[in-house]
Amino acid sequence: MPDEQTPLLAVVRVAQRRPRYQHSTVRRFCTIVLSGALVVALICLLLPAAFLPVADGPKSSYLPWANPFPHQAWPGGDGMTYEELQTILLQTPNEVEARKSSEYYTAGPHLAGKNLSQALWTKEKWEDYGVTSSIVAYDVYLNYPLDHRLALLEGVDLATNRHKIRYECSLEEDVLDQDPTTGLSDRIPTFHGYSASGNVTAPYVYVNFGTYKDFEDLLAANVSLAGNIAIAKYGRVFRGLKVKRAQELGMVGMVMYTDPQEDGEMTVASGYKAYPEGPARNPSSVQRGSTQYNSVLAGDPTTPGIPSKPGSPRVDPHKAIPSIPSLPISYRDALPLLKALNGYGPNASHFNKYWQGGGLTHEGVDYNIGPSPDSLVLNLMNAQEYTTTPIWNVIGVINGSIPDEAIILGNHRDAWIAGGAGDPNSGSAAFNEVIRAFSVAMQAGWKPLRTLVFASWDGEEYGLLGSTEWVEEYLPWLSAGSVAYLNVDVGSVGPKLNAAASPLLNKVILEAAGLVPSPNQTVQGQTLLDTWDKRIKTMGSGSDFTAFQDFAGIPSLDLGFKEAPNSPVYHYHSNYDSFYWMDKFGDNQWHCHITIAKLWAQIAMQLCETPVLSLNTTDYALALSRYLEGVKEKAKKSTIGEDSAFSFKFLDHATSELQAAATRFDTYTANLILRLSKPVPWWQWWKTVKLLYEVRKANTKYKLLERQFLYPGGLDHRPWFKHVVFAPGRWTGYSGATYPGLAESLEDGNVTNAVRWGEIIVERLEGAKSLLEK
Ligand SMILES: *[C@@H]1O[C@H](CO)[C@@H](O)[C@H](O)[C@H]1NC(C)=O
Ligand SMILES: *[C@@H]1O[C@H](CO)[C@@H](O)[C@H](O)[C@H]1NC(C)=O
Ligand SMILES: *[C@@H]1O[C@H](CO)[C@@H](O)[C@H](O)[C@H]1NC(C)=O
Ligand SMILES: *[C@@H]1O[C@H](CO)[C@@H](O)[C@H](O)[C@H]1NC(C)=O
Ligand SMILES: *[C@@H]1O[C@H](CO)[C@@H](O)[C@H](O)[C@H]1NC(C)=O
Ligand SMILES: *[C@@H]1O[C@H](CO)[C@@H](O)[C@H](O)[C@H]1NC(C)=O
Ligand SMILES: *[C@@H]1O[C@H](CO)[C@@H](O)[C@H](O)[C@H]1NC(C)=O
Ligand SMILES: *[C@@H]1O[C@H](CO)[C@@H](O)[C@H](O)[C@H]1NC(C)=O
Repeated sequence: MPDEQTPLLAVVRVAQRRPRYQHSTVRRFCTIVLSGALVVALICLLLPAAFLPVADGPKSSYLPWANPFPHQAWPGGDGMTYEELQTILLQTPNEVEARKSSEYYTAGPHLAGKNLSQALWTKEKWEDYGVTSSIVAYDVYLNYPLDHRLALLEGVDLATNRHKIRYECSLEEDVLDQDPTTGLSDRIPTFHGYSASGNVTAPYVYVNFGTYKDFEDLLAANVSLAGNIAIAKYGRVFRGLKVKRAQELGMVGMVMYTDPQEDGEMTVASGYKAYPEGPARNPSSVQRGSTQYNSVLAGDPTTPGIPSKPGSPRVDPHKAIPSIPSLPISYRDALPLLKALNGYGPNASHFNKYWQGGGLTHEGVDYNIGPSPDSLVLNLMNAQEYTTTPIWNVIGVINGSIPDEAIILGNHRDAWIAGGAGDPNSGSAAFNEVIRAFSVAMQAGWKPLRTLVFASWDGEEYGLLGSTEWVEEYLPWLSAGSVAYLNVDVGSVGPKLNAAASPLLNKVILEAAGLVPSPNQTVQGQTLLDTWDKRIKTMGSGSDFTAFQDFAGIPSLDLGFKEAPNSPVYHYHSNYDSFYWMDKFGDNQWHCHITIAKLWAQIAMQLCETPVLSLNTTDYALALSRYLEGVKEKAKKSTIGEDSAFSFKFLDHATSELQAAATRFDTYTANLILRLSKPVPWWQWWKTVKLLYEVRKANTKYKLLERQFLYPGGLDHRPWFKHVVFAPGRWTGYSGATYPGLAESLEDGNVTNAVRWGEIIVERLEGAKSLLEK
């Protein structure tokens, strides 16, 4: 939204550019906003027609404060009730249109920074829908593949470099007649984002999933790691953190493959046919992906914390990306390498439970750990071109009547492959339907109460580049003026609704799910809420909400339909995540695509339109006390133990104080809503003004609550992460850690640091409480 701020916000943005995380920033803004509140209230009173989109007073449950002006409709529109808007948003998203969008995005390669025409197409589409849109570019550091090789060599004579080739990995996915995307001449090779170039020849070791714990088990078993190449299975933790740990332990390279054990029953070994004949994993499929250290930093690794513009100062990226080469391979290519370890080193089956269950035993793999015998070595060659190059976000804006309570919706557009029908373009197809639905509503005369911002991000796959750089650039505007960020990445690759959110948003997700028809109509008329387990996870990382939630303190959510245990295998980051797969296996009726669109639109609408923001602080406070109990459990198990110098007393106290304040605040706002629903005679206009002032003040508190949990100094060893409650686990990456600073200090047995984090957290809890009570 570069040049589209209101004058007020533009002033705030300039004034607040630097330094960033000072309390004065928020305070100064509040002063401006609160003193502006009366002006806003008066404007509401004087310009109701432009503001209050209501037709016949009592009929509307929409903006009850419009009741003093019962006969006003908006200029140029017939007016619309809340229910009418809901209906438009539920009825507009359409399978045929979603399928068309998907077909477009998946027709050709769209790696980060490589497909400007998709950005332009998206912008034009949104503008056709009547949404003013622009392209916002950043200059980011990233890599494109040049060459690679992985071969099992036998009898290498170091003096002469003579050897036999036991097996040459193809490093290619099969071209399938049925699936045109797999045979494109410009298809993208198999490679890792941010992997290091290198050419290493060394013995190799099987490291299970390559988790921190797996490596600890290997060290405990005296398996030699330094100087060796690791073969790791995908899964359990983010791939970049596997490489990080291997590198720390002196390993010289890493190879990753997806073991069919990830597919449960849906395997060739259990009698299912492989894609494209059936739903099982195609043996040649390869998971590409980024090896950035996503728990350390998000965004361009050369510009931590600042936007990547031409001329931005840059740092050495290697705190956040590997220095050893890595390659992704298929399980078909992994088989000869794993079999060659049979009989060498300990057997994985003699390790703990995390090492059990490998899915290639029927192919003759014994899952020995190695190292490989003296006669055998791996040659791993990875050649990457590193460059600083533009990427293109598309940003669309529908101005609302209240400009500084913005709701932001986002999805990324870039993919590792030409396809990407699941990741991310099932989300992109749904997104276009959401925007089309809002456009239909606008044509029918609707004008949003709050501003809606739509973002189609580029560069997510490498490290959340487009979204992070944008948040870093517009941080002052976002801190002052945004209510929530609603993310959909993979919109639909299976039948199971998956949600993660800041607890402030739990309520609105559940309410919206209760309005949207379930794609499962086994029982006619059942809603999404009826067919959903209603589990809402905590925010980790792995998608574009990260900068919003963890860096800027903006309550965020992430939604999508994922695989259920017996659904067709989703070929994540592979050529087989294609339009053909989606149309035949993934979502062959396209129902889940439009269901996610409807859910997304309903949530956005509710946040956008209810006079009192649909956030719930009690849910947040309750969640905080659950997280604290979680940390206590961990402390009991850690080296610190129960009888250490660390006491949870202050944290307990501050948590229950906040909980009481939150309950009082939500009760107060519930009462505000009630008061709003009662007509006020027009001659008592000052009552309306007072009410609007109270609403404005309460909304500002809702808006700023999440911001109270930011700590400017950031987490230990990863200062970009500012949120004291949520962060990606330092060794998991995807899944969320709660109270990371405290939990990690306890894990490390550092009582001094635990006390320090206890104080930091208590300060934040007290800040949140006093915000609610001001
Ligand atoms: C939104 O409002 C701002 C300030 O009034 C204005 O500068 C901008 O052009 C508007 N944007 C759109 C998309 O209407
Ligand atoms: C960009 O995407 C379009 C649509 O998917 C595709 O047709 C085109 O080949 C891609 N362009 C490049 C340069 O890869
Ligand atoms: C990689 O190393 C191998 C073995 O040392 C060597 O034979 C080969 O030429 C190297 N490849 C490249 C591209 O440098
Ligand atoms: C590993 O080596 C250490 C020291 O040499 C020895 O005490 C320990 O028993 C060994 N552990 C295993 C599992 O072999
Ligand atoms: C090693 O594990 C595999 C797979 O669990 C098993 O088939 C094999 O018998 C084991 N070998 C030994 C020597 O324990
Ligand atoms: C569909 O809904 C029915 C009834 O609620 C339920 O029993 C069934 O498990 C659901 N199917 C799926 C695939 O979720
Ligand atoms: C907020 O959440 C609490 C706890 O879930 C609930 O009791 C309360 O009714 C909610 N308030 C609103 C306005 O939804
Ligand atoms: C414990 O944390 C403190 C900071 O609170 C740090 O100065 C100290 O070095 C840490 N101790 C260890 C053993 O890491």
